Amino acid sequence: LGVYVLCFALGYLLGSIPFGLILTKLAGLGDVRNIGSGNIGATNVLRTGNKGLAALTLLLDLLKGTAAVLIVGAFAGPYGAIIAGLGAFLGHLFPVWLRFSGGKGVATYIGVALGLFWPAALVFCLVWLLVAVITRYSSLSALTSSAATVIFLAVAGLTSLAILFGLMTALLYLRHKENICRLRRGEESRIGGSKQKA
Ligand code: G3P
Repeated sequence: LGVYVLCFALGYLLGSIPFGLILTKLAGLGDVRNIGSGNIGATNVLRTGNKGLAALTLLLDLLKGTAAVLIVGAFAGPYGAIIAGLGAFLGHLFPVWLRFSGGKGVATYIGVALGLFWPAALVFCLVWLLVAVITRYSSLSALTSSAATVIFLAVAGLTSLAILFGLMTALLYLRHKENICRLRRGEESRIGGSKQKA
């Protein structure tokens, strides 16, 4: 059991690095939590108008999930990797450094999928792009693609992964509660749309 606690802790530590917040502060853009949706993720960093910084946030929030899975998996095996992936995801959502108030998990979800079973990340990205091109809602794209990923894993018979991503998808939905309300009211901001407070 001790080794799995260590796997979780390492994953959590990596996942808890709030790249969106760090990058926007370093770039002199202030606290990203005071703009747009108040989230620390790439979608909200994009609302600062700095596309490069948003892309870098997406990449680093994604890679911390992949790194957690690959590094821990290399010495603790596949179940250690799964636990580290869950740790990284929870670290991003609930970072101790930000009083457990972190991001919504989309980039880290993709990164964990990439490290554990890359076709799942591909399914996520394809569905995300499809919904984003049609609707231009980042949140709706993530909600749809995460559900599609779980269905894909379940149909492929990968039970452990389907359970992990089912749990992560449930948490992702919980963290998108406000987005879901805004979508229902028709008030969600679109990618490339208004930079006003969402
Ligand atoms: O990645 C999070 C995205 O799905 C929604 O972000 O800032 O619009 O709440 P935001």
